[in-house]
Amino acid sequence: MKHPIEIRQATLDDIPEITAIFRNTITHINAKDYNEKQISVWSYGADDIEEWKKRIKNYYFIVAEMNTNIVGFAYLKNGNYFDGIYVHKDHLRQGIGSKLLRIIESQVMMNDYEVMKSDVSKTALPFFDNRYFEVIKKQKKSFKGVVFENYLMEKNLND
Ligand SMILES: CC(C)(COP(=O)(O)OP(=O)(O)OC[C@H]1O[C@@H](n2cnc3c(N)ncnc32)[C@H](O)[C@@H]1OP(=O)(O)O)[C@@H](O)C(=O)NCCC(=O)NCCS
Repeated sequence: MKHPIEIRQATLDDIPEITAIFRNTITHINAKDYNEKQISVWSYGADDIEEWKKRIKNYYFIVAEMNTNIVGFAYLKNGNYFDGIYVHKDHLRQGIGSKLLRIIESQVMMNDYEVMKSDVSKTALPFFDNRYFEVIKKQKKSFKGVVFENYLMEKNLND
């Protein structure tokens, strides 16, 4: 029988599992849309443990668990900026990302914002597009000296 997905807030003890998913999803899934250098710089972010600690302490950071294993995570910064969502490469298309997004959206509404924003990867564009996010602009952002193409997207939660 399929195990149910449980969502809970992240703790600092989750960092090893979170960073393993971050690295694996980027190197296996995002790699089809970004070049080797971009993937290397992006996935290297897994090793910045201090940054992950800050995110867990300061942001609304949730994990999805299946049978006590973390299979995905998402985090919201400054009340309405959706900063990241990653699902384990072996558990894509099982509804985990949608469940995480629904809970992030509820949190944005609880924070009294009508609009949420995100910088969305080329890989995740169809996922967000199918969930009523609109592209505000296609943009190039520099991270550690490497340029990434992504999309600034917004969703009005009252629509
Ligand atoms: C974007 C991402 C988070 C989506 O996660 P996910 O768990 O695969 O999302 P879901 O399963 O909820 O939805 C994905 C698709 O699977 C489909 N799906 C959901 N449950 C399904 C099921 N049981 N069987 C078959 N398909 C299913 C959905 O309809 C959806 O298709 P759609 O986008 O055409 O509507 C994931 O692809 C990911 O981690 N991508 C790489 C990281 C990334 O780029 N993150 C964003 C940048 S910060």
